Amino acid sequence: MPKKFVVTPWEVSGEIDYEKLIREFGVKPLDDKILTRLEKNAGELHYFLKRRIFFAHTYFDTILDQFEKGNKFYLYTGRAPSGPVHLGHLVPWMFCKWLQDKFDVNLLFQIPDEEKFLFNESLTFDDTKKWAMENILDIIAVGFNPKKTKIFLDTEYAKTMYKHACRISKKITFSTAKSTFGFNDSNNLGEIFYTCMQSVPAFLPTILEGKPTYCLIPCAIDQQPHFFLTNDVAPKLGYPKAATILSRFLPGLQGMHQEGKMSSSVEATTIYATESPQQVRSKIMKYAFSGGRETIEKHRKLGGNPDVDISYQYLTYLLEDSNRLKQVYNDYKSGKLLTGELKEFAAEVINKFLKEHQMKREKAIGMVEKFMLRD
Ligand code: TRP
Repeated sequence: MPKKFVVTPWEVSGEIDYEKLIREFGVKPLDDKILTRLEKNAGELHYFLKRRIFFAHTYFDTILDQFEKGNKFYLYTGRAPSGPVHLGHLVPWMFCKWLQDKFDVNLLFQIPDEEKFLFNESLTFDDTKKWAMENILDIIAVGFNPKKTKIFLDTEYAKTMYKHACRISKKITFSTAKSTFGFNDSNNLGEIFYTCMQSVPAFLPTILEGKPTYCLIPCAIDQQPHFFLTNDVAPKLGYPKAATILSRFLPGLQGMHQEGKMSSSVEATTIYATESPQQVRSKIMKYAFSGGRETIEKHRKLGGNPDVDISYQYLTYLLEDSNRLKQVYNDYKSGKLLTGELKEFAAEVINKFLKEHQMKREKAIGMVEKFMLRD
């Protein structure tokens, strides 16, 4: 029997069958044809695309149509501030930066502080504000162009957003929201309304430019249900449909089958953006789910399984050198590379990446105001 998995904006669990998810959601795979077209326009393909870490889309072809006609699009993504940023969050943002650089386009970065306030019993607005300001440092550290990037907290940009959220909410029935998100009688009213706030930035390009302007949303696939609603509404309000380009989830250290995606609230098996090299190394040594055999003798003889090995999975996200990655894969599979050695190498690659991130995060402290959009 195929195992059950759940993917909604509020829950991601189980071993995800991404092919099946594409069919269930009715999104499109990023196939060779569209990747070739993207490559032609961007000049190259990010390794996230070659490795199918970004693997699906909706309406991405219309973005390319527009771009090929000389029409610039906007990028839009977001981060709900409920805790520290971890490696899994940085993945779509790194891809977003790549798109911004390649296409030289504007980016709207939403920080829906009310989302986490509404959905999390224990978070106050003081907490979400504190996390927002911390998270913004990580966002800026990714290297977005300050001239072309605007970051806003919903509660600080509400004067502009609220009117449009109301226009959107008027076009979505409770029944549609229930069937999209599985709401029931115990959800609070704010939770039900929230999706309208997440739709607004998809229309802001057109609102800000004063002419039809397309929007591309790079995000993990759990956010797609919001944008189904966005696109139900778009034609009713006379806006172009929003396009999405969708990523898989970075698993927690114990692997997707044990604990699902990496999650800020599970400290032991999450690698935070601000973690020290010692902490990273020790977490990987202790917790990273291994595809190795029980004994060194067996491993040498039979080889390991890189496909389930978390250290190897992390390398697919962070090691750009594809030849080196392939070599690691083959050496682990043949038994030449031992689990301890693979873990050391993964820790080294992650620490190199984080060292740079943390340096840029320090520098970001003085740059926040350049990015902020407020009413
Ligand atoms: N809901 C997202 C979260 O829980 C935050 C978010 C807001 C977002 N707007 C977005 C994510 C657009 C991706 C794209 O983190």
